[in-house]
Amino acid sequence: LKIVVAISGASGIELGIKTFSLLPSNIQKYLILSNHAYKVLQEEGLNSLEGEVFKNGEIEAGVASGSFGVDAMLIVPCSMNTLAKIAVGIADNLITRTASVVIKERKTLLLAPRELPFSPIALENMLKLSRLNVIIAPPVMGYYSKPQTLEEMENFIIGKWFDLLGISNNLYKRWRC
Ligand SMILES: Cc1cc2nc3c(=O)[nH]c(=O)nc-3n(C[C@H](O)[C@H](O)[C@H](O)COP(=O)(O)O)c2cc1C
Repeated sequence: LKIVVAISGASGIELGIKTFSLLPSNIQKYLILSNHAYKVLQEEGLNSLEGEVFKNGEIEAGVASGSFGVDAMLIVPCSMNTLAKIAVGIADNLITRTASVVIKERKTLLLAPRELPFSPIALENMLKLSRLNVIIAPPVMGYYSKPQTLEEMENFIIGKWFDLLGISNNLYKRWRC
């Protein structure tokens, strides 16, 4: 499987980085950061990233072509800006181009929009994309797995995303298991 994780300039960059690092080793994985994600990265006090990271300007990267064969893409966190661009088909950077390719190739696209509250414009964009089979899965907390730490709460959310993509995982305690 080829899976792309993209991080746009919304709060919660750590969730995107953890999602990328928790992907099983048998998956070919690719990471893209938007320019604004780097700004949020500084604000949220995280260390710089290790490994190969595509920059959003690298529109010539393989993942931007349908022939490359991306199976799924997660945008975690997804800014309202990137959400809006995808909803109207703008493909002006590597994240939005790859998302538009994933939609046209009928592959799996999962967006984790991060804003509070959501404006009616953002909600309309989400509804439009949801009707195109894009998975809208914001990082919403759940307490039934009884998380004791921030890490456990993050693992709960990432585990739910992996479930949606059919990636087997043991990241959280399932209901009544
Ligand atoms: C510290 C910081 C936090 C931000 N948090 C959010 C957020 O949670 N959600 C959001 O939609 N935009 C957020 N923004 C604004 C986006 O970064 C901005 O709209 C930007 O144009 C997004 O560009 P991108 O979609 O290419 O990453 C934040 C910006 C900064 C500097």
